[in-house]
Amino acid sequence: MGKGLFITFEGIDGCGKSTQIELLRTFLDSKGIDNLVIREPGGTVVGEKIREILLDKKNSDMTSLAELLLFEAARAQIVEEKIKPAIDEGKVVICDRFYDSSLAYQGVARNMGTDLVNLLNNVAVSGLDPDMTFFLDISVEESLRRRNKRGDESDRIEGMGDSFLEKVRQGYLYAALYDSDRIKTIDASSSVEDIASQIANSVSERL
Ligand code: TYD
Repeated sequence: MGKGLFITFEGIDGCGKSTQIELLRTFLDSKGIDNLVIREPGGTVVGEKIREILLDKKNSDMTSLAELLLFEAARAQIVEEKIKPAIDEGKVVICDRFYDSSLAYQGVARNMGTDLVNLLNNVAVSGLDPDMTFFLDISVEESLRRRNKRGDESDRIEGMGDSFLEKVRQGYLYAALYDSDRIKTIDASSSVEDIASQIANSVSERL
C-alpha cells in the first residue's frame, strides 16, 4: 500500500475545527478513501490519561515546562502508536491539533520560546511532519462570541483568558508565515460550506 496523507487542523477555541474535520471525514468517506480521525492531546490510552492531567483545572500549579513536556509525551505516543502505522497503511490521517499547537500555545503564548518548542516537537514526532495543515483563523472576539453561545465550561488552558488567546493566535500567524507551503490559513469567519469546500479542494489536489 502506498504512503497515505497526514492532515492537521489548528486554531483557537471556537474556530470550527471539529465541524470541519467531520465534514472532511464525510467527504473522504463519500469518495471511499480510507481515513483515521484522531485528536491531540489524546487519541491513545496513554495520551487520554495525559490529556486528563493537562486539562484538569485542579492542576493550576503545573509549570509551563511540565505542561510542554506532557503535550510532547502525548504526541510521541500518538505518532508511534497511531499516526505512523495508519499512514504506512495508506490512510488519510486527520489530526485535531498537532505540533503547531505547542508552538502557538506553549512557545508563544506561554513564552517558552519557539526554539525550544521546535526542538521538542522534532524529538516527539521523529521525522513525521504533516503534509498539510489547515489553520482556521478567527479573531479572539469571534472566539468569545462563539464560546458564549455554546456555553461550554472552559478547561485549564481555555480558561487562561482572552489576552492569552490573542498571543496564541499571533503564534499561529507567525507559524503560517514561516511555513506557508504547509500551513493554509483559512478565514474561519466565512460560512461553514465555503470553508468546507476550500478544504475539500485543497485535499483533493493532494490525493
Ligand atoms: P481540546 O478540548 O481538545 O480543545 P479544542 O477543542 O479547542 O481543540 O483541548 C485541548 C487544549 O489544549 C486546547 O486549549 C489547546 C491546548 N493545547 C496546547 O496548549 N498545546 C498543545 O500542544 C496541544 C495539542 C493543545
